[in-house]
Amino acid sequence: MASRKSLQDLFVHSLSDVYSAEKQLTRALAKLSRSAQNEQLSEAFETHLQETHGQIERIDQVAEATGFKLKRIKCVAMEGLIEEAQELIEEIEKGPVLDTGLIGAAQKVEHYEIAAYGTLCALAKQLGQTEAAKLLKQTLDEEKATDQKLSGFAEQVGNPQAKAA
Ligand SMILES: [Fe+2]
Repeated sequence: MASRKSLQDLFVHSLSDVYSAEKQLTRALAKLSRSAQNEQLSEAFETHLQETHGQIERIDQVAEATGFKLKRIKCVAMEGLIEEAQELIEEIEKGPVLDTGLIGAAQKVEHYEIAAYGTLCALAKQLGQTEAAKLLKQTLDEEKATDQKLSGFAEQVGNPQAKAA
């Protein structure tokens, strides 16, 4: 078990955890994009995949700015969230019901990330790591925007008139 005695240890652990989460997510988002029937939803997953690559780079920038070394750990929370999305894909045929399920699964992921980046942002500030806090806030804002976009899709996909378009 890695030591998490100080705020700095906690920060490094949390940053390494979200690094693992983002890496796992890049693989999952490609699959979500393929599994969505709604074209715009599929594109939104693809767009967030590109954004996620940028967020991974940003974590490297945070490590560089702070001089902290990332640990090799696995984010088991993200692993579980992805597993649940995978179950939906296996159980439901492609269509509006699966699309609705995929939106919900993706929103759980975004909420997890929003919590993670919000905490990291606060920790960075407490540690006096201003540059790191700024970078983490950028990702936090991207995750929030993605979550809102998904909320919009949830209404659209569930609306039969919108579906016919
Ligand atoms: Fe992310």
